[in-house]
Amino acid sequence: MSKVEISTPGKLMLFGEHSVVYGHPCIVTAVDQRMNVVAEIQENSNLQIIAPEVGLSSYSQDINNLGKNPNIPKGARFVETAVRNFFEKFNMRSGLRIETKSDFSSEFGFGSSSAVTVGVVKVLSELFDVKLKEQELFDLSYKTVLDVQGVGSGFDLAAAIWGGTLWFVGGGKTIIPLGRSSLPIVVGYTGIKADTPTLIRKVEEENRKYPKIIGKIFEAITLITEEAKDVLERRDWTRLGELMNLNQGLLDSLGVNTRELSSLIYAAREAGAFGAKLSGAGGGDCMIALVDSQTRGAVERMIDKAGGKVLQVKTGAEGIKK
Ligand code: MEV
Repeated sequence: MSKVEISTPGKLMLFGEHSVVYGHPCIVTAVDQRMNVVAEIQENSNLQIIAPEVGLSSYSQDINNLGKNPNIPKGARFVETAVRNFFEKFNMRSGLRIETKSDFSSEFGFGSSSAVTVGVVKVLSELFDVKLKEQELFDLSYKTVLDVQGVGSGFDLAAAIWGGTLWFVGGGKTIIPLGRSSLPIVVGYTGIKADTPTLIRKVEEENRKYPKIIGKIFEAITLITEEAKDVLERRDWTRLGELMNLNQGLLDSLGVNTRELSSLIYAAREAGAFGAKLSGAGGGDCMIALVDSQTRGAVERMIDKAGGKVLQVKTGAEGIKK
């Protein structure tokens, strides 16, 4: 095969952000906003990357120097590192043209870096006929993410690979599918792009300062996440909403909440949502609210009125797709 196309879903964190970085569990769901990766073999010794959604019209690097350009544009980093890691692991090399196309903006924190990383590793395994089990695909993608940004639990990679809603324990120690049905959720974007590694380091700093207290907060988030897993299976939305509110309070105490997130979260609760919380690293980015068919319209209007942008997404989306 000389050309392969793959698509991977973005994600939304439901419960357990930040504590998952410390080996605790989280619940993540894949969303129907997808990343397409097309790879083609080229008869030269260049890796050419085209990623218009991150402002990369064309970037080229000699395949013998992958990962060696200190001025590599941000949008090319995950792709180039994934290619380098794949070539190193399977001891191969080839000229390549990789083009990415995304349904979603990299602004929204739907996990475009993880979706693209999984997409590139998978597309290369198809292109070069290397059989990769899902866990191997996860491990190579996770190595790539750690090589690029140094921190992260890998939960977003699992969502991109397996899809659906997942129970995920930090580093991929346990991954359990929790079903494929879409949850009644409204997503509100604050308009503020957040940088995940910076927020992870912020929590790290708090943890250094107050290890006993932050340790207890992580434990409490874990109890909430465990309870949420059972409640989610029973589809008890009232209780799931309350658990979201509890999780939100603890995220606030970790220092990753913002005034803008709070304002959308309170707007959603006041409009009748079962519960609402930030989703992901915090510092801006998105919040989620649990609703039913009666409250959805009012919650969306109130989020909009409070200055947020409502993003239409379906959860529980399919994982990797050819
Ligand atoms: C970011 O979306 C979620 C964090 O838990 C980071 C991670 O798990 O990699 C803050």
